[in-house]
Amino acid sequence: MNEPQRTALITGASAGIGEAFARMLAQEGYNLLLVARRAERLQTLATELADQHGIQCQSFAADLTDPASPAAIIEHATGLGIAIDVLINNAGLSAKDAFATTPWAKHAADIQLMVTGLTELCHRVLPGMQARGWGRIINLSSIAALAPPGASLLYTGIKSYVLNISQSLDMELKPQGIHVTALCPGFTRTEFHDVMDTRDQADNLPAILWQDADDVVREGWQAVMKGKPVCVPGSVNKIVAASMLPLPVSVRYMLGRSMNPFKHTQ
Ligand SMILES: NC(=O)c1ccc[n+]([C@@H]2O[C@H](COP(=O)([O-])OP(=O)(O)OC[C@H]3O[C@@H](n4cnc5c(N)ncnc54)[C@H](OP(=O)(O)O)[C@@H]3O)[C@@H](O)[C@H]2O)c1
Repeated sequence: MNEPQRTALITGASAGIGEAFARMLAQEGYNLLLVARRAERLQTLATELADQHGIQCQSFAADLTDPASPAAIIEHATGLGIAIDVLINNAGLSAKDAFATTPWAKHAADIQLMVTGLTELCHRVLPGMQARGWGRIINLSSIAALAPPGASLLYTGIKSYVLNISQSLDMELKPQGIHVTALCPGFTRTEFHDVMDTRDQADNLPAILWQDADDVVREGWQAVMKGKPVCVPGSVNKIVAASMLPLPVSVRYMLGRSMNPFKHTQ
């Protein structure tokens, strides 16, 4: 059991990997601040986890595509006297539509959610972590950051940014007791493909490629506690990532063009 007074801020805690992190950290005795847009789901989960584990569990509804949200979340925590010791930057989604015909506002919102907002939250929690000499940050990247790029997927570039910035932050901050890990899951059973509207294509993929969110979360948490800057959870994902990385750029491009199962069809 970890020290019960430590608090974890989890974004995207209303479903999937974020919810699995909330359940795992509650079991470990962490207090929680849960963030997502669906207030009711968050509040139900917060009440359940507080009752089950005797922890303090708060929820805060926020849309992280709003540039004001990261500051509002931290101000809310400060107002409640909550210090953030663990940050799980998890909220995210992907789209499958053509880049050129998708309105810029949609691209800008995705970048705000998974790049700017994620980075700002890291920046805002660091002063407190530095003062206490302890912090753990997990940023949700994806195996997409290590695999060949896919047509139209802004997501690949976004998750590559997350993979790289996490390693840079870890290098800077580890001497101060703060570990940063880029967690790079492969296909994980969550609501992700329902939101992306690729459920049919996803369901046709071989079962061996899929993991449960609980397994992803367990391996990600072990990685950050051990100070590993990158975690690719699951043996199959590790083999896929390791076999793709040494390929020449031209071969990766060719594979990405022919293999992306979520290509837009317009
Ligand atoms: N599932 C996979 O196969 C997979 C693979 C690799 C990486 N990942 C990454 O893992 C992370 C979690 O995804 P998941 O698979 O757990 O998907 P999910 O089940 O769809 O959950 C996504 C979470 O993000 C939240 N979210 C989405 N947009 C938001 C916004 N604008 N503001 C605040 N919260 C928002 C959602 O909550 P609300 O809708 O309530 O706001 C939800 O809690 C993502 O970053 C994703 O890219 C997933």
